[in-house]
Amino acid sequence: MATVHLSGFSAVAVLKTGPNIGRNFRSSFFKPLLTSPSASSTVKTTSGGKFLASSTAAIVTEPDSISDVQGVSTSKNILACPICYVPLIWNGDPVLSVDAAPRSSLQCGTCKKSYFGNEMHLDLTVGSGAKEYGEAKPASTEIFRTPLVSFLYERGWRQSFSVWGGFPGPEGEFELTKKYLKPVLGGNIVDASCGSGLFSRLFAKSGLFSLVVALDFSENMLGQCYEFIQQEENFPKENFILVRADISRLPFPSRSVDAVHAGAAIHCWPSPSAAVAEISRVLRPGGVFVATTYILDGPYSALPLLRPLRQNIGQISGSHIFLDERELKDLCDACGLVGFTCTRNRRFVMISATKPS
Ligand SMILES: C[S@@+](CC[C@H](N)C(=O)[O-])C[C@H]1O[C@@H](n2cnc3c(N)ncnc32)[C@H](O)[C@@H]1O
Repeated sequence: MATVHLSGFSAVAVLKTGPNIGRNFRSSFFKPLLTSPSASSTVKTTSGGKFLASSTAAIVTEPDSISDVQGVSTSKNILACPICYVPLIWNGDPVLSVDAAPRSSLQCGTCKKSYFGNEMHLDLTVGSGAKEYGEAKPASTEIFRTPLVSFLYERGWRQSFSVWGGFPGPEGEFELTKKYLKPVLGGNIVDASCGSGLFSRLFAKSGLFSLVVALDFSENMLGQCYEFIQQEENFPKENFILVRADISRLPFPSRSVDAVHAGAAIHCWPSPSAAVAEISRVLRPGGVFVATTYILDGPYSALPLLRPLRQNIGQISGSHIFLDERELKDLCDACGLVGFTCTRNRRFVMISATKPS
């Protein structure tokens, strides 16, 4: 047994090892002893209202101050302001869970912006709360925000990747992913651009992680994920949260995340380099990035105009077609990740890279 300190809170952690390490983390970590010295401080919200930061209701997260256990971060609350990148003051249930989101609000101690949850997810986009201002993202992001595509995604769309792209299918991909994630099992994981949460749900049910953050820019995709969870009996909702965020502005402090998974998403990101740089920023030293995408090489790469055509398609659609593995390695290298590896099957590729220790 060990005691860890969470920004003035004491929490009892029972350390166990073995195959169910994630489950043990989930059930035993951070039972607050309610000894916060700042238990009665008040915090102003931007709307002028106030909420009480009491010992049972507010946790000021300082991931860097949390003890490291067996090489994996034990931070329970890793949410940060997407503007200032400092940990948010959490006002809500002391346990992170899908059900806690509607009862929660968070505030940045630096810019004082407040962030809220709707009944399904926490909105941690920079634009959250804006009433008059809005901006459209490129088509490769916007298309997934539509209710129709979000509905169809796990009802045929995703399955088609196996047929035309050589994707191994959810179970095969999950098994492969777990191999790449071995060094960080027991830590927290962000399923970046999770869509309707196909893999986020598998990560949660595996019990292999202390916290699963299912993150996407699409409110409708997150809504689908929420519905799938509600339909499942005994889904482990504790230490599982749905977060709306932009991949190029991740709401986590630097060096706070053990693993980032991004299934079939890099090619949908408006700027893969801005996104991978953000992933590199939030990964702790030794943290692992694992992602899948597809590569248009083989006979296609012989087409003389493919590279300039790719740039034009990218400019219009916002999506990025990778033409060979070297590009993906280069992208990871350029963003400060090392130890690039990949597994191929026809157009499908799974890549992994690590934040240097
Ligand atoms: C093809 S889906 C992949 C879903 C899931 N990860 C999977 O493996 O099936 C691509 C996802 O990227 C998300 N996405 C696109 N642009 C994004 C952005 N700027 N920030 C965060 N997510 C984004 C979309 O909303 C969509 O859910």
